[in-house]
Amino acid sequence: KAVKLSDYEPPAFEVETVDLHFQLTEDCARVRTRMHLHRADGVDLHEPLHLHGEALELEALYLDGQPLAMDDFLLTRQGLSIERVPDRFELEVHTLLRPQDNTSLSGLYRSGGNFCTQCEAEGFRRITYFPDRPDVLSRFTTTIEADRQRYPVLLSNGDLVDSGDAGEGRHWVKWVDPWPKPSYLFALVAGDLHCHQDTYRTRSGRDVQLEFYVEHENANRTGHAMESLKKAMRWDEDTYGLEYDLDTYMVVAVGDFNMGAMENKGLNIFNTQYVLASPETATDADFEAVEAVIGHEYFHNYTGNRVTCRDWFQLSLKEGLTVFREQQFSEDMGSPAVQRIQQVRLLRSAQFPEDASPMAHPVRPESYVEINNFYTATVYIKGAEVIRMYHTLLGDAVFRQGVKRYLERFDGQAVTIEDFRQTLAETGGRDLGQFGRWYSQTGTPRVRVRDEFDPARGRYTLHISQSCPPTPDQAEKKPFHIPVAVGLLGRDGQALSLRLSGESVAEGTTRVLELTGSEQQFTFEGLAERPVPSLLRGFSAPVILEYDYDDDDLAFLLAHDNDPFARWEAGQQLALRVILRRVQGQASPNDSRQVIQAFQQVLEAPDLDPSLAAEALALPQEAYLAQHMDPADPVAIRAAREALRTELAQALASQWRDTYRRYRPEGPWRLDADHIAGRRLANLALGYLGATGAAEDNGLVQQQYHRADNMTDSLAALALLADREDEAAVTALDDFYQRWRQTPLVLDKWFRVQAMSRHPRVVERVQALVQHPDFDLRNPNRVRAVIGAFAQGNPAAFHDDSGTGYRLLAAHVIRLDAINPQVAARMALPLSKWQRYDASRQKMMKNELQRIADAPSLSNDVYEVVSRSLEAT
Ligand code: ARG
Ligand code: ZN
Repeated sequence: KAVKLSDYEPPAFEVETVDLHFQLTEDCARVRTRMHLHRADGVDLHEPLHLHGEALELEALYLDGQPLAMDDFLLTRQGLSIERVPDRFELEVHTLLRPQDNTSLSGLYRSGGNFCTQCEAEGFRRITYFPDRPDVLSRFTTTIEADRQRYPVLLSNGDLVDSGDAGEGRHWVKWVDPWPKPSYLFALVAGDLHCHQDTYRTRSGRDVQLEFYVEHENANRTGHAMESLKKAMRWDEDTYGLEYDLDTYMVVAVGDFNMGAMENKGLNIFNTQYVLASPETATDADFEAVEAVIGHEYFHNYTGNRVTCRDWFQLSLKEGLTVFREQQFSEDMGSPAVQRIQQVRLLRSAQFPEDASPMAHPVRPESYVEINNFYTATVYIKGAEVIRMYHTLLGDAVFRQGVKRYLERFDGQAVTIEDFRQTLAETGGRDLGQFGRWYSQTGTPRVRVRDEFDPARGRYTLHISQSCPPTPDQAEKKPFHIPVAVGLLGRDGQALSLRLSGESVAEGTTRVLELTGSEQQFTFEGLAERPVPSLLRGFSAPVILEYDYDDDDLAFLLAHDNDPFARWEAGQQLALRVILRRVQGQASPNDSRQVIQAFQQVLEAPDLDPSLAAEALALPQEAYLAQHMDPADPVAIRAAREALRTELAQALASQWRDTYRRYRPEGPWRLDADHIAGRRLANLALGYLGATGAAEDNGLVQQQYHRADNMTDSLAALALLADREDEAAVTALDDFYQRWRQTPLVLDKWFRVQAMSRHPRVVERVQALVQHPDFDLRNPNRVRAVIGAFAQGNPAAFHDDSGTGYRLLAAHVIRLDAINPQVAARMALPLSKWQRYDASRQKMMKNELQRIADAPSLSNDVYEVVSRSLEAT
């Protein structure tokens, strides 16, 4: 059942052209596909033709115009094969599909009364019989015929070349995509949609039509996405010299979507969540996410579409690189330091736990049962970290040159992660052979640093070693090639210029040390006193760093480090230790005093940057804290973290109040850097004020909820209210529901704040939420807002000692699997992490995994997750 990287074979047949004809009706869709195929060079004459196909009814099949009879081919649940075919031939396939019943949201399906598609990774085979693999590139022509009234808008990839009347109130359009592409980039949309149009003039002076299609009620919420697209287009020209290559760029927003968005050539299809944004309905974080995802899908036009993947094991070739490009874009549009902090938070809370679970896999996996299970944090965000390390090792200019060379060399081809690495190595004139282990070895490396100072000679030596714990798939690991960015601070807090042994002059205050062995040493010279090391600056590698700082060092770094990431990190490590000591019952009064003092210093710093301060003053996330405890006790972690929060709230109450008043933006809502940063810091302060227990502060929260003119402020207050049990909480939640019950994306927020609340009876609440008339298992956003938010975003509640959380999750995974296997498999993942918990929780979690495994007619998707989880010991 498993597909293996080592079994890769090039395609036996190539498809030059595909001519699709869709006839869409209310109860089914008929697809006529005509394609021109030829046998690939060197392929044996007797090699049969295999086409993928799934959930299809085959109505007819013609080879060079001749109908094939049932015994001319072999039909299975996975596809069809034809035993003897000429070297070159035309094949015509007629299929019938039922998009109305397609709840898997893969292939052709319906959302909000419209038709749309999702073909990555293997959805095209649910439309027609076809070699549905990324290394078969063809020229697509698409004709769509549908009722004119219901479906005035008919879209596909490329350029609209013709249209006409089809009689009986029906019309047709014809699209031609001039760029050869794999089937996973095919898209079709039919519906009654509002179009927001604009134009973009490329650097070379071509005008590109930009079109956003949304349901009519969302007509006024596409402005931000449009601006984001223009920024992304400009940015890719400026940064990588890449210009858009078609006359039209279309984006369609749909409310039912398994993932975030899809980069179909010339016709992106998006989850509404990443397109729609207005101040009343979207938070600042939503606005930012729209910009990032619009950028991401646009950047795929080169890294993904023009140069694509040979097979799905190479997924990170396009995703890691595109996430990295998206990150660079976000850094350039906002604050690089804040962006970096948020990237690392996400890596640690989502990817590190994956690496430590039975689902652990390398950035380039070696086998899978269901490829959709490998659109993971490892492939995407660890993949982006690996690209970032190339960038660090080569430097910005060489890296960009390398990417351009890669895109030129492999334009129009389906290639591998190796091809990319070779091109970069060649461009930089460097051996990156060992670096390849980042793609093939699973797990999060540990980097241990020890230091030594020789006062007589003014020498300071760092001894750096690395190791990587065994993972279920690999017992032994070889050393990685790890860039470790370091700085040294003098006792006065000044950053020192660095001179490595053997160099004649000191240069800069940050140096990238390259660790390639399992242990190495690096000596700095010319130091008058023992410095404080600032290690892994900018988080230069996706590793766990170990160095024995004492609490004072961390407080010192938080106050003085000239690397903003390292400064933030020092504060996080300090808070982390204090919380962990509290969990272990080893907290001393001095502990809280030190954190309080450190936080006060941040708040009172004369050059305070409000958005960086908001990051520094946020306590480490529960999921990250849990990684430092074995077995992890999410309930104890919640209690210790909340206790420290309350102490910080009370000890600094007047500072929080001041901060709230000072930074809360005046006047009407604006989406500029000042207002965003102001809201962020003010809402952080409000969060602490919500924990002081003072009536005055509770009142402030309520007041903010009721007076807010934007979703950022109203949701921040609502989330605090949702933790409470009083009348004010009930009133606000009810008010929010009444106000937004007709607006799905906002109603998702209402579900999510409740599923994530610290309310003492939150498990009961979640049980009520899944019974709510607006809860709908067929809508992935709603499922994520309730089930996902609860199981992943509320660890203390999910891991409640009673096991109720586990049972609730398993029951929904089973029900959901019959509707949407992709989303069901994702929802099951929190149970896969059972090894991290105590014996009693382990037992309950495994019981639920077993219950899922025993459910009748399980999908491949869920089967792979639960079987891998249960096999681990
Ligand atoms: N290529 C898309 C993106 O990252 C993700 C779509 C994946 N969809 C899926 N069903 N696996 O931009
Ligand atoms: Zn992507």
